[in-house]
Amino acid sequence: MQKQRIITSVLFFLLIMPLQAQKSEGLALTPPMGWNSWNKFGCDVNETKIREVADALVASGLKDAGYEYIVIDDCWQGERDAQGFITANAERFPSGITALSEYIHAKGLKFGLYSCAGDKTCGGHPGSRGHECQDALMYAKWGVDYLKYDWCFTEKLNAEGAYITMSRALKESGRPIVFSLCEWGGSKPWTWARDVGHLWRTTGDIYNCFDCVKKWDTWNSWGVMQIVDMQDGLRVYAGPGHWNDPDMLEVGNGMPVNEDRAHFTLWCLLAAPLMAGNDLRNMTIETYDILSNKDLISIDQDSLGIQGFRHQVKDSVETWLKPLTNGEWAICFLNRSTSPKNWELDWKTFSVTDSLSGRVLDTGKTLYKARDVWRKKNAGGTRKQLKAIIPAHDVLCLKLIP
Ligand code: GLA
Repeated sequence: MQKQRIITSVLFFLLIMPLQAQKSEGLALTPPMGWNSWNKFGCDVNETKIREVADALVASGLKDAGYEYIVIDDCWQGERDAQGFITANAERFPSGITALSEYIHAKGLKFGLYSCAGDKTCGGHPGSRGHECQDALMYAKWGVDYLKYDWCFTEKLNAEGAYITMSRALKESGRPIVFSLCEWGGSKPWTWARDVGHLWRTTGDIYNCFDCVKKWDTWNSWGVMQIVDMQDGLRVYAGPGHWNDPDMLEVGNGMPVNEDRAHFTLWCLLAAPLMAGNDLRNMTIETYDILSNKDLISIDQDSLGIQGFRHQVKDSVETWLKPLTNGEWAICFLNRSTSPKNWELDWKTFSVTDSLSGRVLDTGKTLYKARDVWRKKNAGGTRKQLKAIIPAHDVLCLKLIP
C-alpha cells in the first residue's frame, strides 16, 4: 500500500513537472554575452546600423571572444496590424525583421529583440500586454533567439504573473528563446524568476559614470559603484540558466580606461551577462582589449556559475573573490578611492571559506600560481607577499591556479 502510494506520487510529480516548467531549458548555462543597442544609441536604431554592428562584432574578434547575441532594444517597433500582430518600423527597418535576423544568423550570431509587459514600451511604442502569444509567435517566426522584456506602463499588473505569461508564450512558440527580465528589481525577481527567465535585472538603469547617481524627473540611473553595491545578498540566487543582471556594459562609452577596466572586472566577478553597449564600429584599442580579455571572460563564463563576492573592505580597497573550476580562484582588489593605494597581502595568513559553495581558499596551506589578468603575465605566486600600488578607480586582478 505504502509502496503504491509512493509510486503514485512519483508519477503525479513527473506528470505535473512539464506543466510547471515555464521557460525554455538548457539555455544561458553561462551568462549570456552579446551586444545591445540601448546604452549607446537609445532610440536611434535602424537596420543599416544593426548590420554594421554585427559585421564589426565578427570582424573585431569579439565573436571569437564569446559575444553572440545582437539585441535591438526599444524603438524598433511600428504599429500593430489589423489582426493585432506587431510590425517593425518600416522606415527604420525597410527590409523587414526576417531579413535582418537572417543576416545576423548567417554570421553565426544570434538575434534578440526588446518588448515590454505594459501597454507601451518605455519609449512609448506598442507593448505586449494582451498580445503576449501573438508577439511570441511573431518573434519565433522572425527567428528571435533572445527577448528582453521591460516593465513600463504596467498599471495594475503583477510582475511575477506578467513575466510568467510571456515566459509561457515564448515556450509555446516552440523556439528556444532566452528570456531576459527587465523589471529593475522592484518585486525582487531573484526570489521568483529562476524558472521564469534566464536573467533578471536587479536594478534600475546603469549610467555611464563610475561613482554617481543621475537624477531624472521621477527616477534615478546608477553609476557602476552604486549598481555593484545593490548586488549585495543576491549571489545565492544565481547559477547556470538563471543569472542576476546588473545591466548592460558601459565599457567604451566615455569613462576613463581604468574605470572601464574596473567595471568590466566587477561584472565578470558577478557572473553578470556581458552585453556590450558601445559602438563596436568605432572602438579604441583600449576598449577592445577590455571587452575581449580572455582571462576575465573565462572568469565570467566559468562553468560552475558561482557568482563572486566582496570578501573585505580595507582603506577603500575591496577584495573580491570568485571560486572557479579546477580549484582555481579569481581574486581582485578594487580601489574605490580617488587616490592610488599601496596594497599588501600576506598570503601565509590568508584564508577564506565561501559559505555558499563551501569552497576554501587557504593560501597559507596551498600554494597557488598567480596570473595578473590585466597585465596578461605571471605575477609570481602565493609564496611571497603581495605588494602593489593600485591606481585610483582601478583593479588588480589575479587568477590563482593551484
Ligand atoms: C528601460 C530599460 C532600459 C532600456 C529602456 C528602453 O529604461 O531599463 O534598459 O531598455 O527602458 O526604453
